[in-house]
Amino acid sequence: MPRRKSARRQKLEQLIAYPIDWLEERSGLIGGLRYFLLRKVPGDTSWWHTLGSATLTAFIVQTVTGVVLAMYYKPDPDKAYESIRFITDDLTFGWLVRGMHRWGASVFIILMFFHMARVFLFGAYKYPRELNWIIGVLLLVLGMLEGFTGYLLPWDQTAYWATVVGINLNGTAPFLGPFLAQFLQGGAEIGNETLSRFYAMHMLLIPGGLFALIGLHLYLVIRLGVSSPPWSPEAAGEERVEAPPEGRAGLVQPGPRGGYAK
Ligand code: HEM
Repeated sequence: MPRRKSARRQKLEQLIAYPIDWLEERSGLIGGLRYFLLRKVPGDTSWWHTLGSATLTAFIVQTVTGVVLAMYYKPDPDKAYESIRFITDDLTFGWLVRGMHRWGASVFIILMFFHMARVFLFGAYKYPRELNWIIGVLLLVLGMLEGFTGYLLPWDQTAYWATVVGINLNGTAPFLGPFLAQFLQGGAEIGNETLSRFYAMHMLLIPGGLFALIGLHLYLVIRLGVSSPPWSPEAAGEERVEAPPEGRAGLVQPGPRGGYAK
């Protein structure tokens, strides 16, 4: 027989449920979140499938630590180096936030490569996930650009000369190279304008693009479902002849003639 809840517990449950119900009724967001978190994934999903979420976690860490750094960083050639010194030496836990952001940048890129390797080796880029692979390639390019533009911001010797090398390297590319180098440099030489330009790209343009593309990437992951490993009969790109057993498939799966079956 089910135990009766005490009046206090009932009141507490009502108190918690009220704002959740309020939001759900007006937006459907709670239902969407529940679908996202409790959606079915293939039974043979393994630890390899967590690399995408690990990359997402690294990105979130970069966003949070980046916002804290932006509150103290000064994008001015006369003040940039001093503001970074202040963050590292004087600001409470500034060394930790800066360290997390600097090392986290490498972690983000390495995890992105591991995730991409998993997708490639599992054949998860095949039909119907080609578009998500293309979005992933754009994410990789933007992720590396984010690292390149961030490297200049401390405005020390390493940052300056690494940027000189990077811009000159870009300039040697055929056709578009000189235009790209000129755009990155922002002026006649690498100086004030370059710092402003890199700052704007690092803080606004590239993170904006990353947010939009990650949103699209995750939408497609949810819409198409996560693919099974290559040793599974339901591997990506395999044609399914029978209907999937109840509760095994994602939202949509490739059907027998290349169409979609629910
Ligand atoms: C900001 C970087 C990225 C984030 C946050 C991210 C996130 C994710 C997540 C959470 C998943 C689902 C779980 C998983 O399969 O691991 C996923 C799947 C996928 N990702 Fe990424 N990803 C990123 C970059 C990339 C890159 C660089 C590529 C390839 C060039 C890529 C291609 C794919 C594909 C094709 C899938 C579907 C895999 C499947 O269904 O098995 N992603 N991604």
